[in-house]
Amino acid sequence: MQMASNYVLVLLVHALVRISAAVNLGYLSSASTAAPTPDKRPTATPKNAWIWNMHAKGDTKKFMYDPVILTLGEALRDYGANVTFVSKDNLESDEHRNALLDDVTATVARGQKPLIVALAFFFTGADEPLSILRKCKDLGAFVVFYQSEAYDFLDFHEHLRMCDGLCDEIWDFSHANLDNYPESWRRVKNRYVPPGYARALDFGVSVAKQGTHVKNIAFLGQWGVRRDYRGAPLEPLYREVFGTKLVSKNDIHTAEDFTGFFTEYPVQLVTYRNENCCPSTNVLLAFRMAQLFSNRACVISARAYPHDEEEFQGIVHFAERSQIAKVFDEKSRDVGNCQKQGFEKFKAKFKPFSILKRSGFFDVW
Ligand SMILES: *[C@@H]1O[C@H](CO)[C@@H](O)[C@H](O)[C@H]1NC(C)=O
Repeated sequence: MQMASNYVLVLLVHALVRISAAVNLGYLSSASTAAPTPDKRPTATPKNAWIWNMHAKGDTKKFMYDPVILTLGEALRDYGANVTFVSKDNLESDEHRNALLDDVTATVARGQKPLIVALAFFFTGADEPLSILRKCKDLGAFVVFYQSEAYDFLDFHEHLRMCDGLCDEIWDFSHANLDNYPESWRRVKNRYVPPGYARALDFGVSVAKQGTHVKNIAFLGQWGVRRDYRGAPLEPLYREVFGTKLVSKNDIHTAEDFTGFFTEYPVQLVTYRNENCCPSTNVLLAFRMAQLFSNRACVISARAYPHDEEEFQGIVHFAERSQIAKVFDEKSRDVGNCQKQGFEKFKAKFKPFSILKRSGFFDVW
């Protein structure tokens, strides 16, 4: 079962409506035109980077990965790079494939290291995208494999093996994942690079007035796949805790519905498949967190892997189920304050450029 389906797809579908202008650039319309930011470094010849969503469904499935695609895009542009988004949809013709190879060749000829960050290997379907990636690697590209799945939902060893002889580095969104890499994969350089506050993820939801007391807690997504460690369905367990205060939704279709939902229900609940504690082994859903915090949610979450929780200390309010009603009670009394604090801390800590800088990647590129 892929992690991707964990990420509240409904929510992201609408994100697509709004951000398609940002991601749907097409191979040849790569953008080095992002607005200048204080971090942007003036470089005569920008470094070339490609962010490649290898999902076999192309752009129509791209939304699942938007939090990380947009985060990496913003981080690399702020670094001064010339970033191109690649997917099946804009790599369909020979002309486009050859243009990619030519650009990689030209970049190497200039004495630069062309960067390709590829994700969704597991859903590539055909071998062809991987063989083009291999050609890029042979031409001198520096290939990063963005590991976007959860170690406990697929054969991780198999997944990482897709990287064999291809990847210079592996980036991941969770410490629970990184700490569970098979021994043989630890020799490949890895980095913690979770999705963050990318400007394109922010739909402009406003924070509630100070002192606003809300009655509901919302859950966005599908309950069906979520169970506790014994296999018991989670919905009745949370229903027992919250009763009618719990509002669940998984069918939001427009950007307006989306902002409406977050405005009406600023307190959002995050739960896990195979939910367990304590300590928890759950892979923190960083993709989903990026969506929620970029839209100013006050987030209450079941417990996650300790090192993952540490990263979100003071941002996400973690609670075991036996304590979660109390935490909700506390946060819902002044939801505006909870929203404001979470948003500001998330935005500051998980600024795309800072995430990549902290990872140490700019020291090697
Ligand atoms: C930016 O990238 C595109 C696509 O790879 C390439 O065609 C273009 O020449 C690059 N621009 C510069 C200034 O290198």
